[in-house]
Amino acid sequence: MTENSAPAPAVSAALAAELAGIAATVAETAGRRIVQLRDAGVDVAATKSSATDVVTAADREAERLVAALIREARPDDGILGEEGASDSGTTGITWVVDPIDGTVNYLYDLPVFSVSIAATVPDPTAFADGRRAVAGAVCAPRSGELFVASEGCGATRNGAAIRVSAQQELGLALVGTGFGYTSKRRAEQAEVVARVLPRVRDIRRLGSAAYDLCMVASGRLDAYYERGLQPWDYAAAALIAREAGAELRGVDDRTPPGEPLLLAAPPAIAGALHDTVSAQR
Ligand code: IPD
Ligand code: CA
Repeated sequence: MTENSAPAPAVSAALAAELAGIAATVAETAGRRIVQLRDAGVDVAATKSSATDVVTAADREAERLVAALIREARPDDGILGEEGASDSGTTGITWVVDPIDGTVNYLYDLPVFSVSIAATVPDPTAFADGRRAVAGAVCAPRSGELFVASEGCGATRNGAAIRVSAQQELGLALVGTGFGYTSKRRAEQAEVVARVLPRVRDIRRLGSAAYDLCMVASGRLDAYYERGLQPWDYAAAALIAREAGAELRGVDDRTPPGEPLLLAAPPAIAGALHDTVSAQR
């Protein structure tokens, strides 16, 4: 069961900070472990939506480690993980976990992959999946970066406050995006990127949605958009981006960010990027 049956709990700033501390510690611990496992060698354990959508043994081991550490710290909370962890809990708080975001980079030993951990509460209006993170952490172990946020208290990178860029012009914006794993999804994404590319400084495809959003939060990318994300890809990092000043948008005014679109940008360019991404051909 993935839905939380308990009502949305009141989360004080103190509790959100405590949850952020747990997310940070667990993400760092899992980050160290996945680096050890990668350095020992990696193999594809299974495929998911397509032959290129892979799972490694490390994804599964890291998710088991994360789930065990969260259960130790918060035994009554729920857990939802990319590799199948699913427990509704009784507190109304659900931990949304991506044990390795950027699995293809991990497989190829490219350095951009991350562990993403968010403590979420039910909120049908905030994100398309019906949950909102109140605390979250993203650890990118190869670059030694730990991004943390709790709701209303800002976002940090290795303990220092971060902020989105001051970019005012879409034409000068460096924009991150990503692509799904199925041909049909990619064909749609290719049409969108063909519209965006001539209108921006350039495009980056780093390979980890959680890290992309943290780059927007740090002002190292001006903006990011992607269609087809899952809750574990963005739960922690969308909070980090929002706390760093990003505006988050969904596909239209009635649809919260998430699936089918999550766009994150400084407010000055969010509208122009959204118009470009969603324009009909
Ligand atoms: C993927 C990465 C990628 C994004 C895909 C995600 P995974 O997650 O975040 O950057 O473009 O949409 O599925 O499979 O590496 O956990
Ligand atoms: Ca992911």
